[in-house]
Amino acid sequence: RGKKAFIAGVADNNGYGWAIAKSLAAAGAEILLGTWVPALNIFETSLKRGKFDDSRMLPNGSLMEIAKVYPLDAIYDSPEDVPEDVKLNKRYAGAKNWTVKEVAECVKNDFGNIDILVHSLANGSEVTKPLLETSRKGYLAAISASSYSYVSLLQHFLPIMNPGGASISLTYIASERTIPGYGGGMSSAKAALESDTRVLAFEAGRKGKIRVNTISAGPLGSRAAKAIGFIEKMIDYSYVNAPLQKELLADEVGNAAAFLVSPLASAVTGSVVYVDNGLNTMGLAT
Ligand code: NAI
Repeated sequence: RGKKAFIAGVADNNGYGWAIAKSLAAAGAEILLGTWVPALNIFETSLKRGKFDDSRMLPNGSLMEIAKVYPLDAIYDSPEDVPEDVKLNKRYAGAKNWTVKEVAECVKNDFGNIDILVHSLANGSEVTKPLLETSRKGYLAAISASSYSYVSLLQHFLPIMNPGGASISLTYIASERTIPGYGGGMSSAKAALESDTRVLAFEAGRKGKIRVNTISAGPLGSRAAKAIGFIEKMIDYSYVNAPLQKELLADEVGNAAAFLVSPLASAVTGSVVYVDNGLNTMGLAT
């Protein structure tokens, strides 16, 4: 039986979510995507027009098939949580059933149970501000979009996950070491995500025989990372200082993710796994 994967946080072909989808598709999984509502139209249009066809190519020469794209806004758990202005916003009014609870229900109705849940999303409205200058609103928004969104997704998807399944998220080393420039409470949000990985691994392991891990990925010039403003500097820094002096490819993170959600990693849960050319191990810039 082929496995079914729901990957939240894909809106173009540049980020880690897309690369994870490709690695899972190459391993034979059926791919369902969750795309942020305001980015949905352009993503679907680009997909239909073949804009991503080159990067849909899998190692065996076939193109990755996407069974369905679901609109999703992971800062809202159910329709009661959505403020009026968002409901009326024309980018949101055009789509429906995009709160976490509704997306889980739609996936269940369309495809039944799934095996793999991937969280590849983050957002911090004040990410460019130092923590000392971050507002309460900005801090809580970062935590809501980047940390609680994972708790909520797993909470709502666990009941429709087959025992033996697995879930992963993406984190960043700014959670444990100071990375000047990764502000707005995003470092705090990643620290929460990593701590939650351990607790959720326990709870989802006991409750549903589901494994929960997170990948601490090195720098990639994705759309989200470009919004932070210093990604090119981080990529150069990694190239100079990491044990492996090579570009970090999104596909390398995709492949590690495919391993972690596969039976090859059947005893790995609650872990933070570094996929960063080894940069995290260094104590001195070279
Ligand atoms: P990306 O831009 O491809 O992915 C982020 C996605 O989150 C976008 O598709 C965006 O539309 C979506 N999103 C934002 N708010 C949302 C919401 N409320 N509901 C649903 N979707 C929402 O960028 P990237 O960098 O691939 O990010 C994926 C994950 O990787 C994130 O968790 C990020 O923090 C993490 N990461 C990225 C690194 C990098 O250097 N790019 C390094 C380490 C971790």
